[in-house]
Amino acid sequence: MSPALGQLLALMALLLLQPPGTRGAQCPIPDIANGQLISAQNFTWGSTATLHCQPGFVPLGAASTVRCLPGGRWYPRVPSCVPGQCPHPPPVEFADLQPRREFPVGSTVSYSCRLGFSPIPGVSPTITCLQNFTWSSVPRLCQKVQCPSPVIPHGREASPRRAAYTFGQQVEFQCEPGFALRGSERVQCLAEGMWRPPVPYCDRVCDPPPRIASGQHSALGVKQFPYGFEVKYSCAEGLSLIGDESIYCTSEDGERLVWSGAAPECRLIRCPKPVVERARMTPQTFTF
Ligand SMILES: *[C@@H]1O[C@H](CO)[C@@H](O)[C@H](O)[C@H]1NC(C)=O
Ligand SMILES: *[C@@H]1O[C@H](CO)[C@@H](O)[C@H](O)[C@H]1NC(C)=O
Repeated sequence: MSPALGQLLALMALLLLQPPGTRGAQCPIPDIANGQLISAQNFTWGSTATLHCQPGFVPLGAASTVRCLPGGRWYPRVPSCVPGQCPHPPPVEFADLQPRREFPVGSTVSYSCRLGFSPIPGVSPTITCLQNFTWSSVPRLCQKVQCPSPVIPHGREASPRRAAYTFGQQVEFQCEPGFALRGSERVQCLAEGMWRPPVPYCDRVCDPPPRIASGQHSALGVKQFPYGFEVKYSCAEGLSLIGDESIYCTSEDGERLVWSGAAPECRLIRCPKPVVERARMTPQTFTF
């Protein structure tokens, strides 16, 4: 077959497929909301075109490429552009998200800190679904609630002091010698950023009351003697108590605590037998 014959046959085949007068015909350029069809060729029969959606929009359906058929139809039908969605927002440490299902481009979601955590000042808890279907960056949002450093004059923390005291932490306190703890020995940092029970204080106390010979006081086994504490003395059988029976923990200068006086003494006191002229003692007693 000569080259000329081959060309002739090819031309005939072309004429059979494409009736004369329609060669180079075009498909209509569809009007697509939020997008357009783009073709490297010319929307002529047999060419393909691809749907390009505006930023933030995505083609609806699987096929975004269509072909121009003889007769001026696009196949498959030209899809439309619909607003795109972001994936579920990323988790943020110590924060929760209001439950939602749809996250269209341009929408925002807000995180809130969990119990015991507070927003870091100056950081926005809101993120936006961007036009490229990603979320605007998520910063660190929440920090553990902090309680103020406990201050306890004349006392200290039983455990080493910390740089920061956060929600849930417990602290125990001790007082210096000469001071007694008033309030709770152990406190805990609450989600609201305060200590509960309140931080205790160290109150001055009296030294242990003096011991006495042949007698005892009522505060045996007592360890601390706060302001106003009363100690009662008693003597061994047959001995007399000389002095005040009770002493109190008090203060002379409003600052230092001291006992109200000296401890009494226990002594054996023998009075002489009374002698009265022309009289008789009833009943007869010989020890006084
Ligand atoms: C596209 O088609 C038009 C007429 O329909 C023609 O003038 C033009 O040259 C074509 N362009 C290309 C790149 O084929
Ligand atoms: C999406 O867009 C934002 C801002 O326009 C950009 O910072 C980010 O890198 C983009 N992400 C991707 C995955 O392209």
